[in-house]
Amino acid sequence: MKISSFRDRFREQLQSQYAVQEIDSIFYLLTENYFGIKRLDLALDPSAELDENQEKQLETALERLRNAEPVQYLTGKSEFFGMDFEVSHAVLIPRPETEELVQWIIDDQADAHGDILDVGTGSGCIAIALAKNLPKMSVQAIDLSEAALEVASKNVENNQVSVQFRKDNILEIEDLGQEFDVIVSNPPYVRELEKASMRPNVLEHEPKMALYVEDSNALIFYHKIAILARKHLKKNGALYFEINQYLGPETSNLIQEIGFETELKKDIFGNDRMIKATFK
Ligand SMILES: C[S@@+](CC[C@H](N)C(=O)[O-])C[C@H]1O[C@@H](n2cnc3c(N)ncnc32)[C@H](O)[C@@H]1O
Repeated sequence: MKISSFRDRFREQLQSQYAVQEIDSIFYLLTENYFGIKRLDLALDPSAELDENQEKQLETALERLRNAEPVQYLTGKSEFFGMDFEVSHAVLIPRPETEELVQWIIDDQADAHGDILDVGTGSGCIAIALAKNLPKMSVQAIDLSEAALEVASKNVENNQVSVQFRKDNILEIEDLGQEFDVIVSNPPYVRELEKASMRPNVLEHEPKMALYVEDSNALIFYHKIAILARKHLKKNGALYFEINQYLGPETSNLIQEIGFETELKKDIFGNDRMIKATFK
């Protein structure tokens, strides 16, 4: 089959899920990733043919996309803060709003020396972007998932930075073992009650351990991490969180009650999305 005919098949089969430009972008991303064939190559040779194996591979991809699987899991790649990241089903696909949190930290800490801890590192995107952009600081990261830490370690290697990882359950540890200048976390924060309004690509394909908290204890991670930070953050240190957009004031209040001053910040869409906490 001609590649262009297969692209038309993608358009036809995915039209209820994506806009046509998006379908074309996905299609060309796949031909480039799978076969090294770029969009420009196809424009120059529109009659190029796919062999049987290539057709099978694209057919499988089409089926996965029809099941609302994010294209990043098909290619195993994602982009964050201008850097390439490997992803698998063990990790959350890094989000643009998390880039805004990272930018906030980099702006604040541009000339700082010291130690950073990233709690719930997943693909390692926050820790690695900070290590790359704050080379005077030394970065450590925690996750409960062994599989996520394997992905994060590969990303450290590919991006040529240094991050020290440790497997731990943040809800169970009582001591971080040292003091930090910066503690950052994008912890699980989606309530069960919010599932109804979520898109199937997130609901069915991203790791549940990375996303969900009980409705009755939605701020469990913020509470625990702030308690640990009260003990392990240096006097002039700062604690940064990505937060649930529907729980901005509640999250701020909780962190204030634990002994911090907080600054709540919106993302580019105007949603409450980040908090910085410092000692009073
Ligand atoms: C929302 S994801 C964030 C991933 C990544 N930092 C990012 O911003 O894309 C939350 C991460 O916390 C990890 N996690 C969940 N429960 C945890 C726990 N009790 N202790 C440590 N990490 C945990 C998950 O495995 C997941 O990687």
